[in-house]
Amino acid sequence: MNLARTHPLAFVPTMGALHAGHESLISIARNYSSNVVVSIFVNPLQFENPDDLASYPRSIDEDQLRAELAGASEVWAPTMEEIYPAEVSRISAGELGNQFEGAHRPGHFDGMLTVVKRLFELVEPQWAIFGEKDYQQLFLVRELVAELQLPIEIISAPIVRDVQGLALSSRNVRLSSADITAAHVISRALQSASQLDGLSQQRACLHEILATEPKFTLDYAEIIDETTFELATLGAERTRALVSGWVAGVRLIDNMAMKVIKVG
Ligand code: PAF
Repeated sequence: MNLARTHPLAFVPTMGALHAGHESLISIARNYSSNVVVSIFVNPLQFENPDDLASYPRSIDEDQLRAELAGASEVWAPTMEEIYPAEVSRISAGELGNQFEGAHRPGHFDGMLTVVKRLFELVEPQWAIFGEKDYQQLFLVRELVAELQLPIEIISAPIVRDVQGLALSSRNVRLSSADITAAHVISRALQSASQLDGLSQQRACLHEILATEPKFTLDYAEIIDETTFELATLGAERTRALVSGWVAGVRLIDNMAMKVIKVG
């Protein structure tokens, strides 16, 4: 147990450039404990693209203030040496680590799980809060905790969106206002698809609406079974559409629960 910190504590891991989405994670964390640790560490292992790492927004002073105002009792920005001393071994995200987001970002989920495990070792939280925007990340972190039998409860937090529906992301600061307007196509497509009956109608609707925006380049739009993270088939009880693509060189991801028809 890390005796320098008061336990039990709730933990919000971040890579900084905090926005209202992170504030919501911190305020959810406060429902679990008045000891809320927010980490800020831009993890190079999860960036497969060196340009993305170099241009990832960094605003540590603002982040510190924002996190404290949102209710953090500690803002912790560890050094590279603290997180990665010589002996840290890499975690594999397995087959799912190479699918969906992982198919487009080789090594991303291995790097993400490696740092999350390390952060958990150093912080020893009782609760850790993860946003649903990175839905595959959330699923893989839950698997890691279950597999290693870590005594940590993973709490998921709903996506925070701007007034027109764009999921908040640290990378959005790299979008112009015209790009943001273009990026709204993603939530529009998800919202419309979510109301329809039937997987094939939902899939068709997603692709049809996403194709209307010339500034948007699609990587994938798929509907998964939430319990297995495999492509959804008829009869799945909880499904979710995942969309990922690019606007103006910025990678955007989003997801939404889809309506399901109960069979039998
Ligand atoms: O979601 C993020 O910001 C990062 O993937 C995380 C969980 C902080 C690990 O670097």
